[in-house]
Order: sequence, then structure tokens, then C-alpha cells
Amino acid sequence: MKDVDTTKMSADDWDELNFPRPEVQEFDRVVERAISRRGFLGGVLAFGSGAAVMGTSFLKGSTAMAQGASRFAFSPIDIATDDTVHVPEGYSWDVLVRWGDPLFSDAEGAFDPAAGVSVDMADRVFGENTDGMELYNIDGREVIVVNSEYTNRTVNLPHAEEGVPTGLDDVRILQHLQGVSVIEIEEGEAGWSVVVDSPLNRRIHHNTEMTFDGPAAGHDLLKTDADPTGMSSLGTMNNCGSGRTPWGTYLTCEENFNGYFGSTAESHAALSLTHQNGFQRYGIGVDGWGYDYHMWDSRWDVSQNPNEPHRAGYIVEINPADPTSTPVKHTALGRFKHENAAYAIANDGRFVVYMGDDERGEYMYKWVSSDPYVEGGDTSTLMVDGTLFVAVFEEDQSGEWVPLTPATTGMTEAHIAIFTRMAGSAVNATTMDRPEWIAVNPTAPEAYCCLTNNSRRGLINDDGTVRTNAGGEPMVANAPNPRDVNRYGQIVRWRPAGGDHGATTFNWDLYVMVGNPTVHEDVYGGSANMNAGNLFNSPDGMVIDTTGTIWIQTDGNDGNEGDFAGMGNNQMLAGDPVTGEIRRFLTGPKGCEVTGLCWSSDRRTMFVGIQHPGDDGGTWPDHNESLARSSVIAIKRDDGGLVG
Ligand code: FEO
Ligand code: CA
Ligand code: CA
Repeated sequence: MKDVDTTKMSADDWDELNFPRPEVQEFDRVVERAISRRGFLGGVLAFGSGAAVMGTSFLKGSTAMAQGASRFAFSPIDIATDDTVHVPEGYSWDVLVRWGDPLFSDAEGAFDPAAGVSVDMADRVFGENTDGMELYNIDGREVIVVNSEYTNRTVNLPHAEEGVPTGLDDVRILQHLQGVSVIEIEEGEAGWSVVVDSPLNRRIHHNTEMTFDGPAAGHDLLKTDADPTGMSSLGTMNNCGSGRTPWGTYLTCEENFNGYFGSTAESHAALSLTHQNGFQRYGIGVDGWGYDYHMWDSRWDVSQNPNEPHRAGYIVEINPADPTSTPVKHTALGRFKHENAAYAIANDGRFVVYMGDDERGEYMYKWVSSDPYVEGGDTSTLMVDGTLFVAVFEEDQSGEWVPLTPATTGMTEAHIAIFTRMAGSAVNATTMDRPEWIAVNPTAPEAYCCLTNNSRRGLINDDGTVRTNAGGEPMVANAPNPRDVNRYGQIVRWRPAGGDHGATTFNWDLYVMVGNPTVHEDVYGGSANMNAGNLFNSPDGMVIDTTGTIWIQTDGNDGNEGDFAGMGNNQMLAGDPVTGEIRRFLTGPKGCEVTGLCWSSDRRTMFVGIQHPGDDGGTWPDHNESLARSSVIAIKRDDGGLVG
């Protein structure tokens, strides 16, 4: 039916398939226009001349780099195009846990190298497509909590033609292999392993009971036949990046939730205008993304349950110390395609959470609690009572967090929580190049966001209008997103006024403008801290460790040719926040994305997630014609030192 391989489409491409944007001019003319726009690009970017966007610290950093100063204790590694993981000399890696590995003894042997995992074991094993993760030490036990972002239908349903579910059991396999795995792990003579049957082990998925709090809890738009109170929900989905709280809980972030819903009616025309407008902005189509849940499980059929999509797209808090606890969906932190959740503490103690909405032309957000966080005190209101802000960037490298309130948006508090994107539009938030992970630097009052890419920015439609985001706002180039047809991405950094993450204004610069200086001499060559030795594209995962080193993970084009020549497989790099130096630390197996990062309590092991290996035909890590298996790996220094 469709002239594309839908099992390999990106989330944004799925959205555009369901909600086609107008036709655009051919690529070459658009690039020509982007490069020739000297009035804007010459003034703001000024590579090699003014470098206003890079800021003075960046320029100083370049000087430091030229003098050969480096904070890194490892030698950079070369790119790779093979089907395994590489780390620097003096480091070693091993697999901690693979998709299908048992968390409970009744699931021993549940994984079949050819058939995958059966429905009765799908919620007893480690989920598929590992993503954000955090580690906790709970009463002396090391407990890792890991997201499973989505399922590859063709991998998880090898018996079904093109991975299309053939019944409810197939749907349940897909539903249960997503979500969150809470796993006790231990280190022995042979390295790290799962503590099978630990009382703390837990699987959380599409059908796990949870509750709502915040302004949308109990609202009519959250009520369904199964939950007439609008207060309790089943499940979490598309669990992308992670976050943590200083009080020991885990935050899982619901990203591309829209793709799981469909309709048995031919259109949404019978639904209310509120529903139709919301579905348009959030990309909820009639066909979904091929998961076909709605064909077998009516909860996902919006013609029968039009409010069900309003019950997803939130930040969900999980207490890993209590396997009987009920996860909470915090509606006050907004509903959008949540990437991750990076916390900071304001100077007066208020709890701050930075968040990105990963879709072309969507926004960056910040939550600030009303009450301060007090160690050992009541934390139940810290993601309920407070203010949600959205970022507005100015060309003079200043910026403002604009509050999303009834006064600023003209919307009710409940509608702001449910239709957060519309609230952002109401205050003219800055359209961004797909905000992925945000990281807060623990050694300086600053934060960073990976803007992974936006190949549609600046495209001109046949009618002469500029390509828009799903809300109809033109995605013209702007100061922090200065390149049309941005295939490489950039990392924006901001420093809150007064060094206070509670402040509503900030100054910003670009930590790196990713590019390929071996291919392009213009703005697509990137900033001065890109060079032939550290080529990468599409920064995505990002965590800053306790020393201030910025760990950057990529989810980009690994074709290693053309614009992407010399970049190889997806990878992880380390960045110096002061000098701007970026150095390659890890390369993943072909086809994979590298995403998710945390450390053992003693910081002598780094855990890294390898998602969707096998997309280019690989069979990592088992090889021997087995299905490829998304896995978490453990990296150690051979001399037992701190990693990084
Ligand atoms: Fe799940 Fe935007 O990455
Ligand atoms: Ca990501
Ligand atoms: Ca990505």
C-alpha cells in the first residue's frame, strides 16, 4: 500500500505520513537558499569571523584546545562500521542484560533465538529497545531501572508477516516488551549480572495500573468507560529518556505515544472539535504506526475511546524501592513527546525539571515547584504544585522561560496540562530542531539540550509558504536553530540568570554546531570543535557526570557516505564543557542507536544502552544467526579506575 518500509520509519516520518504536509521544492534549491541567506547566517553564525552564537567561552575554549589541554584520560577511538562495540584501549565492555533475558526464574530459557519471547513470558524478561536508565543503591543493593522505548514488530513477532499482529496475543507481546524494567544487579568474579528473582525486580508496561495527579487528574478529557473517574490509568508507553529525583524515585518519559492509537472508523470527523484539534497537533491518526493494537484491543481504538490518548504523554514517577508501589503520572509537567527529565535545585530549594518535546519544531520546557525540596521532607507536591514554563530564545543570546498559565495562554490549567503544545504556541515559544536529552551540569550553573536534527526546517512549500510544525507555525531558521535542512544537529547551552535554575531568564550559546568539515566548507561544516577525528551526527542521549564531562550519544545516519562520510556507526563521545573539546569514546554495532547512560554506585562501571542493533542486518550481540538483541553493556577500566 505504501511505497516505503514502514517498519523502519522514524517517528516524525510516521507523523507526516498520517498528516501530510504540503509538497516542497526540491532539496538542492532549498540548500542553495539556506547558504545564500548571508543577511542572517553571516551575522549570527559567522563561522571563522564573528562567532557570536558560540559565545566568548567557546572562543576561549578553542584557544585551550589549540594549546593541547585535555581533561580526558582516554585516547579517542576511530569510527567503526562493524557489528560490535568498541571502547578505548585500557577499557573493556561486557553485556549486562539483553532483550529476553529472565528477571524471574520462571522465565529462564524464555528467549528463543529464532522465535523471540512468547506472550506468557513477555512481562517476565528484560524488555526490548533499551533507552534511558538510572541506578539506585537501595539498602546496599544495586538496582538499575531501564526504559524499553518501543518494539521492532518484525523482530518481536517473527512469526507474523511483516510484523503485523495476528491477534491479541501478538499485541500483548508488543505491549509487555515496552515500558520499564527494575532489576537488581550484582558484580561477581565474572562481571555484572542480573539477580534473578530479586524481590525488587519488576516489569512495568502498557497494562500496569497507575494514577494521575496534577491539573488534568479527574478531568472529563481523561475519563473512559473503564475509568469513569479519570484518576487511574493503565500503563505507560514509548518510554524514552529517563530522569531521577533527589528523593530516590525514577522518572520515565512517554515520548511517541501517539503512534499506538488507531481508529476502526474511517476518520475522526465524528469526534469533538477539541479531540480533532488535539489529535492533529499530537499526531494521532486513523491508522497508527502499524502496531494495530486498535484492531484487537478496543482501548486503543479512538473511535470507541477518544479520551485514551489524553492519558499518555506524561512524566511518570516510579519508586524502585517498593515493587508494590503504584506509578504516578504527573500531568502538571505537561503532555507532549517527553524525551527525558533533567532536574536541578533552584537557589531557594525549589525543584526544577528541564524537559524537551522531541518533534520537529516543538519546544523546550521547564517545571519549577512552588515548595522547596527538603531532604527527608514531604515531596508529594513537588511535581503537582508549581509552574510550567516554555523557552523563548532571542537572537541576542538572551532567553526567557515564559510561564504557561491561564493568564498567559487563555487556557484552563487542565487544558494547559493536556494540550501543552497549544499552550506553548499561545506564548510564541521558539520552534526547536527536535529537543532530545537535556543535561544539567553539576559543576557549573548551566544546562545543555541536544537538538538532534531537523531536515524540514526552512523548506519552502509549492505555495511559497515555509514548512510548519504540527501546530502550523513556520519553522524558519532562528538563532539557536540557525540552519535550514539541518541534518546534523546542534547542542544548545544556557546559563540561568544569577546562576539560579529557578530564574526566568537566561543567556545561551551553542556548545557545538555538529557538521562535517571534511565535506562542507559552509555552515554545514559545523563549529570549530568538529574535526576529522570526532565526526558524528544527530546528538541525542546526553548525561553530564559528576566531574562535568558531557557524555553525548548519537542516533543518526550511519550510512558513512555523502554528508555522513567518516562518521561510521552511532557512537558515544565525551565533551569538555570548558574547552569545547569532543572526543570519541565508544562506537556501537551497525544499525544501532547508543542511548541511556548511568554508573554503578562506586563509579567504576559505566552502563550504556545499545538500542535497535540489527537494523542494518546485524545480529549483535549473540551473532550466529540469532535475532539482534538490544542490550545494556557494562564498561570498566582495566585498572579498576573511575570511568571517564
Ligand atoms: Fe526517544 Fe527522541 O528519542
Ligand atoms: Ca532519544
Ligand atoms: Ca533520536
